[in-house]
Amino acid sequence: MKPITASPSIKAPISSKLSKEIEEFIPGGVNSPFRSFHEVGGHTIFVDRGAGSKVYDADGNEYIDYVGAWGPAILGHGNEKITNAVTEVIKHGPLFGAPHKLELELAKKIVETVPSIDMIRFVNSGTEAVMSTIRLARGFTGKDLIVMFEGCYHGHSDSVLASTKHKHSSGIPDGSSQNTITCPFNDLEALDRCLANHKGKVAGVIIEPVAGSMGVVAPQPGYLQGLRELCTKYGVVLIFDEVLTGFRIAYGGAQLLYDVKPDLTCYGKALGGGMPIGAYGGKREIMRKLMPIGDVYQAGTFSGNPVTMAGAIAILNQLSDPKAYDILEERSKQMFDGVAQSVSNINKQRLAAGINSPIPLQLARVGSMFAFLFSPHPVTNFEESKAIDAETFAKFFHDILANGIMLPPTAVDAACLSVMHSHEDIQRTVAVCEQALTKLFVKA
Ligand SMILES: Cc1ncc(COP(=O)(O)O)c(C=O)c1O
Repeated sequence: MKPITASPSIKAPISSKLSKEIEEFIPGGVNSPFRSFHEVGGHTIFVDRGAGSKVYDADGNEYIDYVGAWGPAILGHGNEKITNAVTEVIKHGPLFGAPHKLELELAKKIVETVPSIDMIRFVNSGTEAVMSTIRLARGFTGKDLIVMFEGCYHGHSDSVLASTKHKHSSGIPDGSSQNTITCPFNDLEALDRCLANHKGKVAGVIIEPVAGSMGVVAPQPGYLQGLRELCTKYGVVLIFDEVLTGFRIAYGGAQLLYDVKPDLTCYGKALGGGMPIGAYGGKREIMRKLMPIGDVYQAGTFSGNPVTMAGAIAILNQLSDPKAYDILEERSKQMFDGVAQSVSNINKQRLAAGINSPIPLQLARVGSMFAFLFSPHPVTNFEESKAIDAETFAKFFHDILANGIMLPPTAVDAACLSVMHSHEDIQRTVAVCEQALTKLFVKA
């Protein structure tokens, strides 16, 4: 994608200087490419600290934060209970390389919460969880093929970059992705055909139950249930990648919200609340294939480390209060209703000015995951996500950033709300968005 030359109006000279300097030492100045402002232009903002719903940059600017650490910050920044739990463990450790009772405590909590999970393993990232789950599905079935869906992101391991916007990464041998087949999202007939064509050869079907990297695309009614039925019919392992949705859109994740039981599930992000975590779990008969009791290898020096376990337990203790999800839903709805009202006001002004078309903006939201999609049409799959106008998003992004609202710097990735976002935060966000949209679509 060609870099966009937006004209950022935020005053952040220290960030500007640091971002030039860091590029000498770290490729692109970032340790994960989507943190860079490559898609929106301008220099990145260096965040110094966070508190609740806000982050503060190196220049002292305050932002209402909707990056949410790309998912984990569901309780906002600087949550005291997480900090205390983690600090207590660090004082006495932090790592032993032997089992710790906190691993048992966290495993029990998740197994008791999520009906599809009989056993679980903890790792350090979503990528690791997905990688290990795919190997497990292959080891369990004795088959090689994995089916995934166009536009779904499952981390940066070779075999699952086959069908995302990142598929053009070099350094992936053909052999690594030749066992991955892709199907369109939200299309059961295509999946049925695919599984029939490869009958007896497919180990697993992996899906993001709500696709977070192509514009917060929800499953159409009955889609996930249909997926479950097809996987059962063809005898393949159904894997839900709930790295982003897990413990975010509902306690336990999308499978509880949509009432579908996968065979295996991957978690990460919100489960760790900022501590580096990944987890995968599911049916006992599949999980018992893992070494040392089975013959599928997966290991990790830092896997299940007590610091992360303590943080995750502190998070689940707070999220298990249903009020947490009521707040997330209420605030997310307040924002979406507010922006929808702004869009309607702007459309009226356009009409009065003789412009007959509504503004090309789709508001996409599932729970506290949302995206502003600058497209004339709703997005239900990867093909449709290609209509999203990254150039317009870049202008919108910089305008609201300069007014203290921070979104992820990409036109399609999910923004995330936290329980710490107040009514005032939302009111301010709606007002700033209305102002930016008016500039873009009425006063242009
Ligand atoms: C659905 C999904 N799966 C897997 C991953 C990879 O997780 P991590 O970045 O922790 O490796 C991500 C990260 O964005 C994700 O959104």
